[in-house]
Amino acid sequence: MIVCVCNNISDREIRQAVDLGISSVAELHRELGVGTMCGKCVSYAREVLHEHLESK
Ligand code: FES
Repeated sequence: MIVCVCNNISDREIRQAVDLGISSVAELHRELGVGTMCGKCVSYAREVLHEHLESK
């Protein structure tokens, strides 16, 4: 499902980014553009990020 509507970024893409070494919202922001527009996706993006980090 889409996490960041403004930039069309899915939870799958966030998990793939974590698998490639991303470990913070700041990096998601910089590398994928998550939260760079309205910012409403940031808390859910953080949840997806941390859930996937913890599942590793
Ligand atoms: Fe991510 Fe707007 S939904 S910046």
